[in-house]
Amino acid sequence: MEKPNVVLGVTGGIACYKALELVRLLVQDSCNVRVVMTREATEFVAPLSFQTLSGAPVGTDLFSLTQESEIGHINLADSADVLVIAPATANVIAKLAAGIADDLLTTVVLATQAPLLVVPSMNVHMLAHPMVQANIAKLRSAGYHVMEAAAGYLACGYEGKGRLPEPPAIAEEIRRLLRPKDLSGEKIVVTAGPSREPLDPVRYLSNRSSGKMGYALARAAARRGARVTLVSGPTALAAPEGVTTVSVVTAEEMRAAVLAEFDSATAVLMAAAVADYRPRSTAGRKMKRGDGNRRVELVPNPDIVAELTARKRRQVVVVGFAAETESLVENARQKLHRKNLDLVVANDVTQEGSGFDVDTNAVTLLDRDGTVTPLPVMSKDAVADRICDWLLQHREHSHRRGA
Ligand code: CTP
Repeated sequence: MEKPNVVLGVTGGIACYKALELVRLLVQDSCNVRVVMTREATEFVAPLSFQTLSGAPVGTDLFSLTQESEIGHINLADSADVLVIAPATANVIAKLAAGIADDLLTTVVLATQAPLLVVPSMNVHMLAHPMVQANIAKLRSAGYHVMEAAAGYLACGYEGKGRLPEPPAIAEEIRRLLRPKDLSGEKIVVTAGPSREPLDPVRYLSNRSSGKMGYALARAAARRGARVTLVSGPTALAAPEGVTTVSVVTAEEMRAAVLAEFDSATAVLMAAAVADYRPRSTAGRKMKRGDGNRRVELVPNPDIVAELTARKRRQVVVVGFAAETESLVENARQKLHRKNLDLVVANDVTQEGSGFDVDTNAVTLLDRDGTVTPLPVMSKDAVADRICDWLLQHREHSHRRGA
């Protein structure tokens, strides 16, 4: 395979020095690395350091006659298999969100067709600022990949979120983005988030699901070439680029939306945390406070995934998720058989770095052949890719068996 071309944009933050280590890792990993620095970045680290480590000229100036003829911004943009900005300052993030192209790096960003990975690094209060958060959300909804900043001691003296993630973690993220489109031909339905079961016009029963795992799955499958429909319960997440998103609220609505897609689907990944019960009736008006106890009668919701597997065609793959608080493997194995699934992704939600509303997960994969694969704590994006990898392997096995 040809060496992948990584264009690395370095902007002016103290974490610039870590970008040197990133270049070294990528070169070791057999990537061609071309570095583009903003003027501010050159105040922190000399271009010569990047040039020496990458073995290639460093771009710093959009209007330099020599650089433009040697490198050329369009040439850089076209040659990139992936474009990475690490560290990305609040300033460059704002420029990207506004579509500004006033230097070599931001011009290359607008001109490239390659996936873009933005790795923010800044002071904890800057990162938390609503403008910065709004800009990051805008980048995500435009299809840019934005890594979460790491937490810990910051060079400005504060403790908190804002550190550049360690170079090996960024290199891993780059490897993910360089994957081939190996899921083209698949039409994948992903469910995500909680369902909400209304008690009255202002109250509902729900659960703590944030939707992050399902959204990560939708993004990973789409990036790997699948056509993806995301059926999402209420979440605070931006709809992923390149994915058809259908918003639902209740389990009944989710069931209808999934069934509408099922006949054309090749795989269904049920990451949603569907409420098992709903109130028997929903009050038309807000329930008033009264004296004493109040009873709410609950009736079972349909088990969507079990309904799918009952009517499924042979080639359709159905993956279920099991959030457990005890006897993880045993409970998950029972779910695999009870719901007739092809794979169960089980996680112990009591474990640190796993479960609700965090960006990481530690899951165990159990498939129908009896294989149990425990995975270490990793980002939900990386877990999503492991599940996509399993789907590919499953297809290969089925193909070999002549299924
Ligand atoms: N699921 C579903 N419909 C439901 C409940 C769950 O499709 N009404 C799916 C979930 O999306 C998940 C899998 O079934 O993929 C397992 O969900 P879970 O809530 O763990 O399963 P339950 O059968 O409800 O088991 P438990 O008794 O542990 O709640």
